[in-house]
Amino acid sequence: MGRRSTMLTVQTRSTRVVIVDPRHPDLDVITQAASTIQRGGLVVFPTETVYGLGANALDVAAVASIFDAKKRPPTDPLIVHVADVASVQTVARSTPPGFSEIARRFWPGPLTVILPKRADVPVTVTAGLDSVGVRVPAHPVARALLLAANVPIAAPSANLFSRPSPTRVSHVLADLAGRVDLVLDAGPSEVGLESTILDMTTSPPLIRRPGGVSLPAIREVLANVQMSSVFAGAGEAQVAPGQMLRHYAPRAQLTVFVGQPSEVHLRIRALIVDRATEGIRIGVLAPREDAIALGADLSVLTDSGQLVVQPYGSRVDPRTAARELFDALRRVDDAAVDEIVAVALEDSGIGIAIFDRLIRAAEGRVVRV
Ligand code: TXA
Ligand code: MG
Repeated sequence: MGRRSTMLTVQTRSTRVVIVDPRHPDLDVITQAASTIQRGGLVVFPTETVYGLGANALDVAAVASIFDAKKRPPTDPLIVHVADVASVQTVARSTPPGFSEIARRFWPGPLTVILPKRADVPVTVTAGLDSVGVRVPAHPVARALLLAANVPIAAPSANLFSRPSPTRVSHVLADLAGRVDLVLDAGPSEVGLESTILDMTTSPPLIRRPGGVSLPAIREVLANVQMSSVFAGAGEAQVAPGQMLRHYAPRAQLTVFVGQPSEVHLRIRALIVDRATEGIRIGVLAPREDAIALGADLSVLTDSGQLVVQPYGSRVDPRTAARELFDALRRVDDAAVDEIVAVALEDSGIGIAIFDRLIRAAEGRVVRV
């Protein structure tokens, strides 16, 4: 008796998982998801980048429950998703010159644009900032949900704070089972890394997070765009909210190696042999080509279980590396190794975004060979 059920909040939600066709989502399912959003509930939905944890962006209580569910600090602003370019005005009070061209070129798609915020967007959405991040996602399920819900949807990535973003529903459930109302499962995410963030409230405009849309592609439309310092330290959290170095932190300490593959392999091999003699279990996270070479050389250690080699994508097609990175990161961490060594791809194209996520997982520990 006297149980205060109001105290039992997010942990006691019953989480329903519904499989949905990624191309032709079932209207019934979308209608249920939309009404959950309209009632102030939490719906995890697929986007082409990663899964999002969505709620009505204009509902203060619903927005608060996003932060609760993720255990996210209130200083980290949310991205607001809208169905189309015309709906941007429901959250942004103005758009700067060049915005229409950017929207026409990259939306729907993996780009978030930071714009001046409208007063009716709760300050909690933007962590007190006068600007708001807006995105029109391309995923048919996300689009259908936004149209049916008919409200802007605030959605951070659907992971617990500081865990890798989820690219599969298994990742979502590992972090958020019992903390959200509904999960729409449309299979693995296409891009696999979060959207590129373009800040158009600054002059020149700044890329605040590298992602699926590259700097050269944006530069074709906005000639003066600059890359911000993407490796901002924790102390600069105010300057670039949510962009602190500690992010995606695995349980084991991770170090990133960059350089010529053959030389990187030599260094890593020596390090692994060294650690193995001390009885330390190592996990290697590397593009398939590197993983095969290292695994073959060190098969004695993989056989004995002292070494776990986890491939992510291929150097031949870096988009596969982007797509598989977060899954591989979770797998190698779940293998309960003592230390992780990661091999980065070339620092160009999508490789820049991959490197950005790895360096955050490494909390800045990089070895340039
Ligand atoms: O691909 C994506 O962007 C995914 C999907 C679900 O859309 N979402 C996502 O959200 O990655 P999240 O919460 O994990 O990352 C949001 C980041 C914040 O950490 C912050 O760096 C930046 O977006 N951000 C959002 N609003 C901002 C603002 N007004 N000013 C500066 N940065 C902002
Ligand atoms: Mg996130």
